[in-house]
Amino acid sequence: MDHYTLPSWIYLAALTVFIGGATKKLLASHLSAAPALVAWLGATVLVDRLWALCLPAMLLLLVVLACCLYSTSRTGPPPATLTPHGKAVFITGCDTGFGNATAKHLDSMGFEVFATVLDLTGDGARELRRTCSPRLTLLQVDITQPQQVQQALLDTKAKLGPRGLWGLVNNAGVCVNFGEIELSFMSNYRGCMEVNFFGTLNVTKSFLPLLRRARGRIVVISSPAGDQPFPCLSAYGASKAALNLFTNTLRHELEPWGVRVSTVLPSSYKTGQSSNHVYWEQQHKQLLQNLSPALLEEYGEDYMTETKDLFQSFASQANPDLSPVIEAIVQALLAPRPQVSYYAGPGVGLMYFIHTYFPFSISNRFLQNLFMKKKLMPLALRKQSGFELNLSLHNNNNNNNEEEEKLK
Ligand SMILES: *[C@@H]1O[C@H](CO)[C@@H](O)[C@H](O)[C@H]1NC(C)=O
Ligand SMILES: *[C@@H]1O[C@H](CO)[C@@H](O)[C@H](O)[C@H]1NC(C)=O
Repeated sequence: MDHYTLPSWIYLAALTVFIGGATKKLLASHLSAAPALVAWLGATVLVDRLWALCLPAMLLLLVVLACCLYSTSRTGPPPATLTPHGKAVFITGCDTGFGNATAKHLDSMGFEVFATVLDLTGDGARELRRTCSPRLTLLQVDITQPQQVQQALLDTKAKLGPRGLWGLVNNAGVCVNFGEIELSFMSNYRGCMEVNFFGTLNVTKSFLPLLRRARGRIVVISSPAGDQPFPCLSAYGASKAALNLFTNTLRHELEPWGVRVSTVLPSSYKTGQSSNHVYWEQQHKQLLQNLSPALLEEYGEDYMTETKDLFQSFASQANPDLSPVIEAIVQALLAPRPQVSYYAGPGVGLMYFIHTYFPFSISNRFLQNLFMKKKLMPLALRKQSGFELNLSLHNNNNNNNEEEEKLK
């Protein structure tokens, strides 16, 4: 026992805190545990090497490993999913994108679908009417209009009779602009909040009595932008952050009622207006027209055009295959024990992993490299650095003291 000196006790304490912290993070995260575990074990081994006191560390590692193995082995194979037959699902925002595709898919699976659209005569509504079974009901709802939400509730109740509603898929959402906070209007923030947060809140509150009756499911389509600070997406991200907090709180509160709540976090997909060139040009024109002359001068029109082109190219490169998101929604509706979060699409899991486990400086740089592949700086900064460059060239090439005095 005499080799248990003071340093080794300090070391043991530090290691315990380290592993305890790691375990806590692991348990709190909804990521798949495997990559996180590997990373933390790697880090633990590294710490272990540094301290060069092998025995107690290895013992701790073994204990942690045994606990993890035990907990994964206890999970076992996933139980069979529930049947869609006789289950009614209400889904918002079915004009285009995830909503349109999900409504169609859920109908083909045998669900009784209530699909809301902004425009009953639009392409999306016509497509659903043409291709879906007579079980599907189309409803015109702008979720920012409480009377329309109320009317949809009455129509749904009339069709359901005494039955409850199994699922609510809160899909409707908007992203009204891309741009720096200073270059975004208050109306951009209110526009996003109005639909993504207040609209969803009103729909959810309205349908909760029906959902509680069925001990059903709520599925919220959110975005990684609500958890991570994506550059140039603050209006959208802030509204999704509000939505995420609301959703997570709701999950706790509905637990006693047997209503399960899941969030779907999609990566970048081709939905809504993202591939509509006219829409992008209009947005850009509107920005240039409404921005104060001072800001326009300091940032420069070319800088803003580059931002627009950048995000437009992101949108055109986005994934056209929406099936991972649709699959996640189906899982959330039919899994006996639905997950809290579904990371839908390539790269989302990795993004959350970096955000959750990496030092701030690295995760920050990661997001900047991902989003800000810009060549231009704001105009005022370009002028400033041009001036500094001139100044230093001037000073290096010219030993005339008088000139330097003048510059000071
Ligand atoms: C709706 O989804 C179907 C596929 O499920 C697709 O073919 C169609 O283009 C979509 N319509 C709109 C308006 O997004
Ligand atoms: C929806 O919003 C309207 C207007 O704010 C409100 O009158 C109504 O009570 C809300 N619905 C629910 C269920 O809270």
